[in-house]
Amino acid sequence: MQIKDQVLQKLEENIGIYISGEELALNLNVSRTAIWKAIKHLKALGYDIEGISNRGYKLTKSDDILSEAKLRKLIKADVNIVCFDSIDSTNTYAKKLGEKLIKQTLIVANYQMQGRGRMGRNFYSPKDMGVYFSLLLKPQINASKSINLTTLAAVTVAEVTEEMIGKKVSIKWVNDLLIDNKKFCGILTEGSISMENSELNYVVVGIGVNIYKPKKGYPKEIENIATSLFDGTERQYDFKNNFIANVVNKFNILYREIESLSHFNAYKERSISIGKIVDVIKLNEIKKAKVLDLDENFSLVVQYENGDVEHLSSGEISIRN
Ligand code: BTN
Repeated sequence: MQIKDQVLQKLEENIGIYISGEELALNLNVSRTAIWKAIKHLKALGYDIEGISNRGYKLTKSDDILSEAKLRKLIKADVNIVCFDSIDSTNTYAKKLGEKLIKQTLIVANYQMQGRGRMGRNFYSPKDMGVYFSLLLKPQINASKSINLTTLAAVTVAEVTEEMIGKKVSIKWVNDLLIDNKKFCGILTEGSISMENSELNYVVVGIGVNIYKPKKGYPKEIENIATSLFDGTERQYDFKNNFIANVVNKFNILYREIESLSHFNAYKERSISIGKIVDVIKLNEIKKAKVLDLDENFSLVVQYENGDVEHLSSGEISIRN
């Protein structure tokens, strides 16, 4: 662990309390200058550290900063971790790593310049306001079953959110997570398929979560449909690192039993689409339909106005009522 991370750890253990530079230096067995440099570095990263001569340093509780060292400490699953302050897209980065994948890898960013959503859309990923991360995996499942991964990620994020902030989460098929009918999280699953056996060479599960509301609000196109986990501007201490770690840890537990589809009930009971009139959006057409059910393969069972029934295994719906 770097000195700055050790200093941060000590300040966190004593959150809100002054701890002298001398004590820090003694504790960590480094010079006072090294402590001073570490504090300067942490402040540059955005940590709210007060320093008063004769008393020392104090970390205030208002910080929520992504930290690779923190993630390493909190994540129990055996994953590589790569953390960026800014990047074009964590999914794009993960796909470049994909072919060389040796071990499950987590790519995290504090800001995405070209965050990507489904159907070629952008995913609004402003700095400091959310968490944007991708898990690069090599699942031993047939490509036709990749929807199981998307739905597994949706259930994981829903459960972690409910556990951490106590709000009820619903799921709009396939992978939009909502609070009070507004979207706070989107999931984009991408991958590469082996032509030989239709197995997946690798899969990237990209998850974007709006944690705080942007100061100027959301862009016009999404202002009526987007929400965040917290309304106010106040930061929740170390929420983002804990949120990501909880998602990665829980995902890995459920992932071990992916074949048994043990997440099916948790997905279906949060699903808001069943019984609704929707527009089914395909490449070149939009068709009105009623959602009858979710089948055991996570396909949405819809009935069109002409009576035809279809089991949708991919695509998108827009709820009309
Ligand atoms: C959607 O709602 O259409 C899917 C949004 C997925 C966004 C996440 S953020 C992390 C990862 N990197 C991306 O570029 N996209 C996904």
